[in-house]
Amino acid sequence: MNTRIFTWVVFVMTTIIVLGVFVQAYFITAYVTGAGAGALDAHRVIGAMVIPGAELLTFLAAIGAWRSRGTWIGLSFLLLLLGAVQIFLAPMSGEERGNGWVHGLHGLFALVVLVLAAVIMHRAMADLGLKRGRAGVGAGTPPPAP
Ligand code: HEM
Repeated sequence: MNTRIFTWVVFVMTTIIVLGVFVQAYFITAYVTGAGAGALDAHRVIGAMVIPGAELLTFLAAIGAWRSRGTWIGLSFLLLLLGAVQIFLAPMSGEERGNGWVHGLHGLFALVVLVLAAVIMHRAMADLGLKRGRAGVGAGTPPPAP
């Protein structure tokens, strides 16, 4: 399959992760401040299915997109690994509370996931030509000849 298609998949999946972390912060804060069980359910569904699914697809698509660029495949694997650790740092439902200093890392690591996903998204955007590099700025208007 065309590497460009894989790069698009990486771009779309990392965008979902980046937006997802913002949504997750909103839902969990809504829950803690009294929005009710629906907000926690939404956080759980997005956190247990949407975001991990997007992390897995990012890694698989990265293998196709960046065959000869191990660094980006490695970073995509790191995202998958970090994402898994981050989820397991959340307090499990029914678990007795009291390990807050450890579970606090769940929220902190979400920010690391966000930054790493954004870095990979940026790489995919550059490869797809979706962002103008410095060389592209004003490329259509060359300076007048002396
Ligand atoms: C990548 C983003 C995130 C993912 C994938 C994620 C995933 C999850 C999952 C799956 C659970 C449910 C665990 C269970 O009950 O078995 C959970 C719970 C929780 N998450 Fe997140 N989360 C994310 C971001 C955040 C952020 C940014 C915060 C805080 C700022 C946060 C705070 C919490 C809290 C406090 C709970 C426990 C809620 C409770 O049961 O009382 N999460 N998360």
